[in-house]
Amino acid sequence: MSIPNHILEQLNSQADLISIIGRHTTLKRAGSEYKGCCPFHGEKSPSFYVNPQKNIYHCFGCSVGGNAISFLRDYENLTFIEAVNELSKQTGIEVPKEEQQNVSYQRAPIKPKAKPETKPKTAIEPATSAAATQPQSTNNQPVADTQSSISVRAADTQPPAYNDNYDNYPPLDAYDSVPYAMDDYDTSYQGDANYQDNSSYPPAWLTGDADTTALYDDNSVSDKDGNLYELLEQIQQFYQHNLTIHPHAKHYFLSRGITEDIFETFGLGYAPFGWQHLEHQFPQDIEGLKALGLVRKSESGRDYDLLRDRVIFPIRDNQGRTIGFGGRALDDEVKPKYINSSDSPVFHKQHVLYGYYESRQQRADNWLVVEGYMDVIALYQAGIYGAVASMGTAINESQISRLLTLNPTLTLSFDGDSAGQKAAWRTLEVALPVLGDDKELRFLTLPNNHDPDTFIKSQGADAMREQIATAMPLSQYIFAYLSERYDLTLAEGKAKLMSQVRALTTALPKGSSFRYLLNNDIYQKLGGKRSQNKDAKDALLDFDGDMTISQQLQLCFLFQPRALSDDPIEAIWQQAGINDLQLPAHIKQKASADTLRPLAWEDLQDNALLDIVSTIKRCLNYLPKDANAAAHFILSNVKPSTQETLSRDWGGFYKALTTRNILSLDGLVEELVSQLIERHMKKKIQDLVKNPDNIKLAIVRKQSQLLNDWLRAQQAEQSAQMATVKS
Ligand code: UTP
Ligand code: MN
Repeated sequence: MSIPNHILEQLNSQADLISIIGRHTTLKRAGSEYKGCCPFHGEKSPSFYVNPQKNIYHCFGCSVGGNAISFLRDYENLTFIEAVNELSKQTGIEVPKEEQQNVSYQRAPIKPKAKPETKPKTAIEPATSAAATQPQSTNNQPVADTQSSISVRAADTQPPAYNDNYDNYPPLDAYDSVPYAMDDYDTSYQGDANYQDNSSYPPAWLTGDADTTALYDDNSVSDKDGNLYELLEQIQQFYQHNLTIHPHAKHYFLSRGITEDIFETFGLGYAPFGWQHLEHQFPQDIEGLKALGLVRKSESGRDYDLLRDRVIFPIRDNQGRTIGFGGRALDDEVKPKYINSSDSPVFHKQHVLYGYYESRQQRADNWLVVEGYMDVIALYQAGIYGAVASMGTAINESQISRLLTLNPTLTLSFDGDSAGQKAAWRTLEVALPVLGDDKELRFLTLPNNHDPDTFIKSQGADAMREQIATAMPLSQYIFAYLSERYDLTLAEGKAKLMSQVRALTTALPKGSSFRYLLNNDIYQKLGGKRSQNKDAKDALLDFDGDMTISQQLQLCFLFQPRALSDDPIEAIWQQAGINDLQLPAHIKQKASADTLRPLAWEDLQDNALLDIVSTIKRCLNYLPKDANAAAHFILSNVKPSTQETLSRDWGGFYKALTTRNILSLDGLVEELVSQLIERHMKKKIQDLVKNPDNIKLAIVRKQSQLLNDWLRAQQAEQSAQMATVKS
């Protein structure tokens, strides 16, 4: 069996290489790569790297390297075919059983066409439509050349060059009811300076200046197989060119706020009127057009174009090759609004993410799943890279898993309407099995039923950034979603909600500590008992429930000053791994030392807290052993203002703790300090979103991510302990 290269490429690029290799060696994230001890040669310190973007591995120790197929072959001793089948199972990419199902197709020989004779008379005057569709003809010199070159080519039995004539005659009377007659559009755009076409026409590849002349040269090449990727590229250029000569289409994109440089970036185009424009344009490639699903057969047996009078969004694979098209009607009333070309040997919708290639070109690192093409484009145009959309269907587990390998935090954006929220919930269910403890999903629902496109248009890019930065964590989202569906004033409602949560969390990966956390977290939200530090917290609340976190912490430090002998901020920073934060080289290079240094008490900008902390640190070695005496010693050394507020609460707090026989506040101190740090980071992110400094923002986000992960692990551990105690 010979397997087409493009299938092998797809298998290698879609394979979950991290988990395949992760079965044999422990991989840790190191910047944009993963790193571990080489499974091929025994080693103690890791020099084996896996790059999830390129989906390849390399060992700097023993120089082995390769892709998913080679790993399975070389390490798991599978045969080539076994490796291919294994990956096909994992990725869902089908390996053709028969050889002919591949990217090549039979090209037809060129038949001379005598177009003018076959052209039936129609109600539409060619002169009118030519003027309507070629506004450049009034002033643009190249057009004259084009027209002459068209006639020469026709005489030479060349395929028809770009022209709009075939738009004007429906192939059958039955097509007379074509929804948009040309004259609907005839004069409205004429004379509008914005629509002067300044692209060179015809494009080089058509006139023969480019290296594709062979395709059109003579019949000798017609026996050669065509290649679907090449055909797609040509169709894409054809559509793109059509955008420049059909003002109403260009106007559509412009009216939606898309700028012309974005036309280029995304290769936006237009599929003209006419039922057989692709066939006319690519007369040798009917087989290919059909394989791509762009040309269909009607019931009466006539071939027709799938996409007509639609603006075109080329869909690209991870390498940037065009593999399909989405077409949107210019009129919102036309149903369906969007038509996507069908799955084909090169286009597998369930593996494609629209916008992925363009985002990767911008080195995007924060991924955001949105619903539509226009959302992807609007975000990109606003400078927010990393937005991707699935192809008209819900995003699936393997797509989510892939994005989560690139960045452990993934934000999902859904419309606020009920359909959007249902889709969000379904996505959540789909994502749970791949949500390991190191991964995080966030949910973004924009206000007032906006989608990202309309939100950016009405509120601006910064507001959008802020929305993304403050998207809802999974646990909160689950609670928010379910609490709207159950009556939580009733015990029955609470019980139903809780049983839903349990069902959901069983879908999380085995051994996930997030299971405990989620259950516990929601249990608490429903008013269940807290476990950790509960008594100490209650002691605090007993005599004053309105204290700020900072005030609570100050009281804790007074009661247990030795909590500061090992600085809690430093300890958290260290344990959360923020000190060892691995940054991509290009970020590290540009980052200021100020951004990279560990957080200090001064940064929290809390004078009273800083006063107590520094006082205690200064006199830690001289403090009396007795807790009450030590507290008074410290109080006498802090500033009068700090002294005043603290001495008011101190007595009550001391009494509450000692009567409960609480000796250590370590857990509570850690929790309060984490909360302060968390708040501080959140505020920092918000400030940076307002006054964008992308390098700083990237770093603070990473730091905050690590902190969150650590906090979650801590909490999960406690919940796990609690669960053990209970059972
Ligand atoms: P929406 O209906 O939410 O539209 O479809 P939208 O993205 O906001 O589109 P605009 O802004 O009106 O242009 C979301 C996505 O669902 C798919 C498309 O991929 C679309 O981008 N879709 C929608 C279809 O495949 N077919 C349809 O008829 C409609
Ligand atoms: Mn929209």
